[in-house]
Amino acid sequence: MAKHRIGWLPGDGIGIEVLAAARTVLDRLEFDAEYLDGDIGWECWRREGDAFPERTIALLKSVDAAMFGAITSKPVKAAEAELTPELRGKGLVYRSPIVRMRQLFDLYVCLRPTKGYPGNPINYKEGIDLVVFRENTEDLYAGVEFSPVPEELAGVLGKLSKNFTPFLRLGGDEYAISCKVNTLSGSERIARAAFEYAKTFNRKKVTIVHKANVVRATDGLFLEAVRRVAKEYPEIAVDDANIDAICMWLLKNPFKFDVLVAPNLYGDIISDLCAQMVGGLGFGCSANIGKELAVFEPTHGSAPKYAGMDKVNPIATILAAKMMLDWLGEAEEADRLETAVAGVIAEGAVRTYDMGGANTTAQMAEAIAARL
Ligand code: IPM
Ligand code: MG
Repeated sequence: MAKHRIGWLPGDGIGIEVLAAARTVLDRLEFDAEYLDGDIGWECWRREGDAFPERTIALLKSVDAAMFGAITSKPVKAAEAELTPELRGKGLVYRSPIVRMRQLFDLYVCLRPTKGYPGNPINYKEGIDLVVFRENTEDLYAGVEFSPVPEELAGVLGKLSKNFTPFLRLGGDEYAISCKVNTLSGSERIARAAFEYAKTFNRKKVTIVHKANVVRATDGLFLEAVRRVAKEYPEIAVDDANIDAICMWLLKNPFKFDVLVAPNLYGDIISDLCAQMVGGLGFGCSANIGKELAVFEPTHGSAPKYAGMDKVNPIATILAAKMMLDWLGEAEEADRLETAVAGVIAEGAVRTYDMGGANTTAQMAEAIAARL
C-alpha cells in the first residue's frame, strides 16, 4: 500500500497542464503515493449544476492531502446561462468551489510563501522572501450576501444604524449588501498560525494588515485579536499597517517585511502583489490548511486563453507540491524538489514565456525532474 493518499483535482483550463507537470516531478521523486482523481469545476457545473459535487467532497474526506489545479468562475448570470437546458431556471447559484472547499473543510490557514529565487529574470528585486498568512474561511468571503436586498433586512438595518438612512429610500433591487463577518476565534487562530510559523522558522516580524481606521468593527476586532496573540510571542516583533499603505510600502521596500497576517480579502489582494514581486502568478504557490486536511494549489486561475497550449509556467504548482511534501513530513523530498526548481531558475537554460523564454510547461517540468 502507498504511504500517502492524495486527492488529485486538476479542475479547468491550465489546471490540467500544471497538475500534470507536478505529477512529472512527484513521480521522478518516487513520492510514495496513491492518487485519487476528483471531478471539480466548470464542466461539473454545466452538466450537474454543482461545480463541487458530493462525490468529490467524499473523496476529500478520505485523503491525507490534495492537489488542486484551477477553476473557471463566471458571474452568477453568465454561469446560469451555461447550464445544460434542463437545469436552467431552477435557482441554482454558482459559488466558487475553492471557497466552498476552504469553508467546508475548515481550511482556515492560507499560507503563501513568496520567495524570489536567485536569477529569475522577472524578479522585481533580488532577495525577496515574504510569507503571507491569509485567514481563509470568513470575512467578505462568508457568502452572506443580498441582491436584491429584502425589505425586512433594510428595515432592521435602518432601525439599528443611522448610517443606513441614505439607503432606506432605495428599492431592494437598486443596491446590494455583502456582509463582512470576522470572528474572534477565526482571527486568533490565523494569528497563532502566523506567530507559530515565525517562531519555528526564525522569522523576525509579523505585520498585521487591516483597514481598522475605516472598517472599524471587523478590522478593529481582527487587529486587537492578533495583537493579543502577539503578546504570547515576545521574541517576535509585531507591527501593523492599513491595506492601502501596505501595498505601497511592499513595493517601495519589500525587505522591511517578513510575515504578513491578514483577513481573507486583504490577504487575497496582497498575495497577488507579493507573487508579482517574485515573478508573477507563475511562481505563486499556496496551501489551504485545516486540522484534518490540507489542499495545495497555485494561486493563479484557469487562464482559459492559454488552456491546452502547453505554455504556462508550472513552477507555482510544483512549489505547491513542495509545500505538500513538507506538510506530509517528507522534508527531504521537499528540499530536493526546491533545490531542483532553484537550480533550473538560476541556470536559465529552460524558461517559459513569462520568464522571457520559449519552453513549454512540459519542458519546464522535465528540466526540474531531470535534476531530481
Ligand atoms: C485565490 C483566488 C480565489 C480567492 C478565487 C479563485 C475565488 O483568487 O485563491 O487567491 O479569491 O480566494
Ligand atoms: Mg487571489
